[in-house]
Amino acid sequence: MLIKKTTLTALLSSVMFTAGMSSVVAEQETVGDFTRGAKAWSQNCIRCHNVRDPKELRDDQWITTTFHMRIRAGLTGQEVRDIIAFLQQSN
Ligand code: HEC
Repeated sequence: MLIKKTTLTALLSSVMFTAGMSSVVAEQETVGDFTRGAKAWSQNCIRCHNVRDPKELRDDQWITTTFHMRIRAGLTGQEVRDIIAFLQQSN
């Protein structure tokens, strides 16, 4: 079978375009979301102790603490990123 060079180029570039699009979408999903974070925080971070004020810690401290709490609370990576986004924007 003989495929024209132009057909192949068009096919290849559409595949590359689609791959590029899906990686952009995947990236957006990994970014922490403030609203989802506020919800996940209010539902999860009160289960074991009193709710901690976001102002209690600095941005860098919230990263360490939330990852520490992730193990205790059994949170997903996305929930952790959302909660961190919420805490860092509220302190
Ligand atoms: C499964 C129970 C549990 C859940 C759920 C939980 N924590 Fe904790 N948390 C603890 C325990 C136990 C401690 C006591 C000290 C320790 O283990 O570090 C603690 C301590 C803390 C501290 C004190 C500082 C520190 O690192 O010791 C902060 C702040 C905190 N938690 C925030 C949170 C936040 C934010 C969430 C939600 C993402 C959360 N916790 C969810 C059990 C939990």
